This record gives sequence, structure tokens and C-alpha cells, in this order.
Amino acid sequence: MDGLLSGKIAIITGAGSGLGRAASLIFARHGAFVAAVDIGEAGVVETVRLVEAEGHRASAHLCNVADEAAVDALVADVVRAQGRLDILYNNAAVTVAPDPVKGMLGLVDTPTRELDRLQAVNIGGVLNGCRAAIRQFSAQGRDERGSGGVIVNTASIAGLIGYGGVIYGATKGAVVSLTRTLAIEVAPLGIRINSVCPGGMLTHYAGMDPDGPNADRIREGMKRNNPLGNDGNPDDTANVALFLASDLSANVTGTNIPVDGGLSAGVSTRR
Ligand SMILES: NC(=O)c1ccc[n+]([C@@H]2O[C@H](COP(=O)([O-])OP(=O)(O)OC[C@H]3O[C@@H](n4cnc5c(N)ncnc54)[C@H](O)[C@@H]3O)[C@@H](O)[C@H]2O)c1
Repeated sequence: MDGLLSGKIAIITGAGSGLGRAASLIFARHGAFVAAVDIGEAGVVETVRLVEAEGHRASAHLCNVADEAAVDALVADVVRAQGRLDILYNNAAVTVAPDPVKGMLGLVDTPTRELDRLQAVNIGGVLNGCRAAIRQFSAQGRDERGSGGVIVNTASIAGLIGYGGVIYGATKGAVVSLTRTLAIEVAPLGIRINSVCPGGMLTHYAGMDPDGPNADRIREGMKRNNPLGNDGNPDDTANVALFLASDLSANVTGTNIPVDGGLSAGVSTRR
């Protein structure tokens, strides 16, 4: 099929669930070969099965994005198998697990090891991916349309406004910031880097379960928070990631685009 990513080789992290799975399917439908990456085997194997069931191409890779050597080896494996890399989508992240009794923990109740874990995955994982991709992009040079390679990150509206816990928000604020700074650094190479900033999405994140007994209640809460009145559909964010990964956004770099129904735009008077 001819699509927005026809012939492109894309790595997508956190591809075993939620937004990463949605992006894997959408990128593949638009012609990309998707190297689907996750720390969990069952999810990423299922994502590849779903992509292939639609007649598209993908491969499954196990990798902890917080492990720099493992990320370097991942990029080398994909390039060895597919010949090049065009797109890296840094989507994997973790959050502080809510306490079963207290719910979301405040800063003083959150163990320091959680700060270390979130920094390692949410910031370190993005930096590891960016380094490995930029090295590969630099080695292979620009494509026939002048692109030096594309990086998309998943940040969050928690990186733009106060939302979702201090430590998580701090890590996502770092992704927003590094997206801007790195975009300037690598622009002379023709490499673009942008982020999507989702609002709430009903995935397996933070102990949620899209098929669980609380799913309808969570969806209703998301609709109430969202000025457009939508629930958090991962496909909406994956479609913006598709735009940022494609040549449609050839003159866009260093941006952090909210995909939140207007939640981060200001205070809603909606009842
Ligand atoms: N769900 C939301 O409400 C929401 C809101 C804003 C931003 N986000 C962001 O969206 C992205 C995707 O989250 P989701 O909602 O699809 O969550 P999810 O939990 O459904 O999927 C995340 C995937 O990342 C994988 N992962 C976790 N740690 C990893 C690691 N160290 N290495 C490799 N893979 C790892 C998990 O195994 C999982 O398959 C994350 O960056 C998250 O911060 C989510």
C-alpha cells in the first residue's frame, strides 16, 4: 500500500501495549516496516501478529530502553536486517504505581527508588534511543527527499502543565525540553525531532485496564476533563505521531504537540 511512510523503516518502543501498539498498526498501514520493541515479550509478539494479520511487515524485539548497550544493539540489529533506519519513535515510559489504598502518591510518600526508575526509563530511555538513532542517521546520510531521519517522542501533557504526579511530570517535562534542544542541535544534519503530548488515554498504563470493570468510569472521567468531551483514544495520539514521522511535517521540528482535546489549553467551563 502507498502511504505516508511508504518504504520507511521505523523503530517503535513500548510497542507491546496501548499507544505503541496503536502506532505500530497505523505506521504499518501507511507503509512502514515496524520494528516493534518492548520489555515484555507477550505484548510485542501480539502487536507483530496484529500487524502481520493486516498484511503488513513488522518484527518483534525485546529491549529495556533504559539499558544503553541494549538500545545500541537494537538499532544495530534493525539496520542489519532492514538496511537502514528512517524513524525512531521513543514511546516507552513508566509511571509511579498508585498505592492500592492511597491512590496516587504525593512527592513525600514516593520512594526515591521510583525517582531513579522513572528517570532511567522516561528520560534515559529517550536519550539512549536518540543517541543510537542519531549515530545511525549520521552514518547513512540524507534520503532522496533530503530527510536526515526522524525522531518522535511521547511526552505528555504532564510535561506541559501540572498533571499526574510530580516525578512523572518532571520526567515528561525533561522530554519536552530535550525535544526542543536536540532539535536545534541536529537540525544541520536534516534530522527532525518532535513530541506528542497525550492527555489521559485508557491503556494498561498506571494500573488501568481498558477491559476491566472500571473502564467505563475512567472513560467518563477522561471525557469530563477534556474540553472536546472525547475519551482518550490512543489512535488519536498515534495519528499525530504519524504526521510527525512523515514528510507532511518536513518543516516541523522542536515541537511538543498536545493531543488532549484541549485539556492543556486552559480552564474549561464545560459542565
Ligand atoms: N495512558 C495515559 O494516560 C498517558 C497519558 C500521557 C502520556 N502517556 C505516555 O504514553 C506512552 C505510552 O503509554 P501507554 O499509555 O501506551 O502505556 P502502556 O503501559 O499501555 O504501554 C507502555 C509499554 O511500554 C513498555 N515499557 C515499559 N518500560 C519499558 C522499558 N524500560 N523498555 C521497553 N519497554 C518498556 C511496557 O511494557 C508497555 O508495553 C508513555 O510514554 C506514557 O508516558 C500515557
